[in-house]
Parts: sequence; structure tokens; C-alpha cells
Amino acid sequence: MPKNTSSDLQNQFANKAQAWSARFSEPVSDLVKRYTASVDFDQRMAAFDIQGSLAHADMLASINLISAGDLADIQRGMKQILDEIGQGRFNWSLDLEDVHLNIEKRLVELIGDAGKRLHTGRSRNDQVATDIRLWLRHEIDIALDLLRQLRRKLAELALQHTGTILPGFTHLQVAQPVTFGHHLLAYAEMFGRDAERLADCRKRVNRLPLGAAALAGTSYPIDRERVAKTLEFDSVCRNSLDAVSDRDFAIEFCAAAALIMTHISRLSEELVLWMSPRVGFIDLADRFCTGSSIMPQKKNPDVPELARGKTGRVNGHLIALLTLMKGQPLAYNKDNQEDKEGLFDSADTIRDTLTIFVDMIGGIKVKADAMRSAALQGFATATDLADYLVKKGVPFRDAHETVAHAVRACEDRGCDLADLSLAELQGFHALIEQDIFDVLTLEGSVAARKHIGGTAPERVKLEAERILADTGL
Ligand code: ARG
Repeated sequence: MPKNTSSDLQNQFANKAQAWSARFSEPVSDLVKRYTASVDFDQRMAAFDIQGSLAHADMLASINLISAGDLADIQRGMKQILDEIGQGRFNWSLDLEDVHLNIEKRLVELIGDAGKRLHTGRSRNDQVATDIRLWLRHEIDIALDLLRQLRRKLAELALQHTGTILPGFTHLQVAQPVTFGHHLLAYAEMFGRDAERLADCRKRVNRLPLGAAALAGTSYPIDRERVAKTLEFDSVCRNSLDAVSDRDFAIEFCAAAALIMTHISRLSEELVLWMSPRVGFIDLADRFCTGSSIMPQKKNPDVPELARGKTGRVNGHLIALLTLMKGQPLAYNKDNQEDKEGLFDSADTIRDTLTIFVDMIGGIKVKADAMRSAALQGFATATDLADYLVKKGVPFRDAHETVAHAVRACEDRGCDLADLSLAELQGFHALIEQDIFDVLTLEGSVAARKHIGGTAPERVKLEAERILADTGL
């Protein structure tokens, strides 16, 4: 095999567009090219990359590092590129590695020298950190709105079911009666905290890395505050090494996303259980379910099952990002290119899942009779009987024991506590009187729990109204 002459190599490189090609004496293999490229996935940040470049160019012009004419050319070129991308006409090239170099190369094609001046005082390292933050801020705002809508749907349904009673469970055993509205609002609370977490994460996402350049800052008299203002960042990252290298803001987002999916997964598990013909508490609209190819009777709750399953990948992305970060010395390392796919997938998964759940919760059909008859089984008001005795002066432990005897007797006879006659109840404790039946009913049990956080219909109504007021636009 004849060896390549150096001019052959130069010709080879002339066709390649790599930004650093003059420094190298042989091209990377096709596999290495694919291995190191990110353009297939980071092109989705293109609009944010352009937004960041325009803010940078505006700043360069403001300190006279580029002319007003250059700035106008850059603005015109970027507008065309944005159009080309939007219309699917942009020619993405693997040779150009990532979204940044693809756009820059096209800009130079379109406007010439002004395009070559854009990268003054900037590196892809601070550029990519800026792009991710802009992109993530946008995703957080979408997720916050979806969480708001979901809480609203839960509160609306809760308001219709302040008095609908079902068994509350501990250990998946019937424990005490609760109202369905109260049960739904438990999830509204979880999603409310998820929103708080995202809003808090957004504060740390919304800081400007641009100006850190490759790692040490730049010798040009840049105006970072101006760029921050243009891009609506709250502040400027205070250390260039930190700004280009850490991805803790993305990890925080992944943690918040994992918790959102964890709450979605818990709700999904309940929807699946409630949909089971054995339980039959609810029905989901057909558009969220599928049938079986072999068993004609089936209507499977696929959407909640898949949501429960997708929680796994979102949890996984959190661990992947933590692990990606943990061994990295300052400052930027190429490891960080691996931050994107998991982050994107977490954001996509919560976006799709929350969007579907907003619709699905609104369409739940509640089978109040099935809920009620389930609550009548399993001695759900046993605690109320004990509490009744305590209010008459019996020490709680003794009352607990008395009721245990009564429950056992009912079990032997196959009846509920409320089915016993007054005389029979008095056989267990002489202090029991006629008013015991107010306590032993499901309605009496829930109505009594009217303190803040309790399951009483009047309290659930107040809480649902509070959440509706909170989530209105
Ligand atoms: N595609 C890279 C990333 O996602 C951009 C920064 C590359 N910088 C570098 N010096 N290789 O992180």
C-alpha cells in the first residue's frame, strides 16, 4: 500500500469541514466520527443555539468587536438558518460533529467573514452550557404548566366527589373510610411539591455561562451582564471553570423529573387496581386502554401501566447523569456531551406523560356504588368505635381491645359492626348508647375528620377550592 503523501492528506481535509483540521495529520475513522458526534441528538437545541449566538453577536457589536454591518449580516443569516431548520431543509452533517459547528458553517456559507467573526470570545464549551440551560428553562416552563393543569383536573374531580366514600387502605388492607375527593387531592399535593421543586431548580438553571469561553474566560472586554439581560437570565455564572463544566442544574432537573414520574407511577398503580374488574372502582375512557388480541373480554389500562414502566427510564437517567459527573476534574470534558440524551428523554417523558394524564384524569368514570360497598366490608369504622369509647372516658388501649372482640364476633357471624344491635354492642361495653350508630356509619366516620388535612367532605371542598384558586391562570 502506498503511503499517503502530505498533499493527499491536505486534499482529504479540504473536503472536511472540521473546525480544527489544520492541526491534524489524519482523519478520524467513520466509527470514531459517529462515536464523537452529537449532531443527531443535539440539533434539537438549534433554536436556542441561534438565540444564544444572536445575543453574543449583539454584545460583540456593542463593544465594537464586530461592526454594525457584521451584526446585521449575522442576524440575517441566522434568520435564514432558522427558517431552513424549521422547514426541514437544513443539511445536517456528521462531519461537522454537533449543532454548533453545523450552524456556524452554514452561517459562513451564507454571509462570509461576518460569520467567521461570531465565535470571537466564545468557545463551544460555554456555548453548549448556555444552549442546554436555555432549552431546559423552556422545558421546565412547559412542565410547570402541565403540573398546574393536572392539579386542576384532580381538584375538579375531587370537588365532584367530596362525599363519595371508598375504603382507605394501609398495607393494602381496608383501614378507614375516606372520601374519594380526599384521595385525589393527595396526588394534587404531590404534584404541587413537584412544581415547587421545578420552580426552584429553574432558579439555578437560569444563570448565564457564556463568557466563560473554553474554561478561563476571555481577554476581550466582554459584557456578560448585557448577554444575560438579552437572554433573560437572572444572573451570570460567577466562575468560568464551574460554568463550563458542572451539570448539577441538569441533575437537579432529572431528580425532579424522577419524583414526578414516581408520583405518576403511584397514581398509575392505583388506577390499574381500581380498573381491575375485581375492584371496579373506576373506568378509564376507552382512548387510554387497549384490548387483547386473543381475549375478547379485555380492556387493559395500558396508559397507566406504561407510565408506571417509563418511571424506570427517568430514574435511570438521574443515576446516569450523577455517574457522568462524579469523576470529572475541572473543567470541561467531553464526557459532558453524554448529558443530553438522558436529559432530553426525561423532559420528553414527563411532558408526554403529564399531557396524557391531564386528559385521562378528566375522563375518569367513578363507580361510587362499588366504592361504597367495598368500604362497608373490612370493619373500616372500627377505629371510630374505639374513639367513641375514648370520648366516654375509656383509655384508648382498653377501647382498642374491646373493639377487637367485637370485630372478631362480627367476623364469626359474617356481618359488619353497624349490623350489630344496640344490645349486642352493649354486651361489649356498657357505655355504648344509641348515638353509636352515627359513628359506625361511613358518613359519620368521614364527617368527623374535619380538621385541616382531614377527609371530611366539608374540608375536602375547601382544599379543592384552594387548589383551583391556586391553579387558575
Ligand atoms: N458537543 C459538545 C457537547 O455537547 C460541545 C462542546 C464541545 N467542546 C469541545 N471542546 N469538544 O458538550
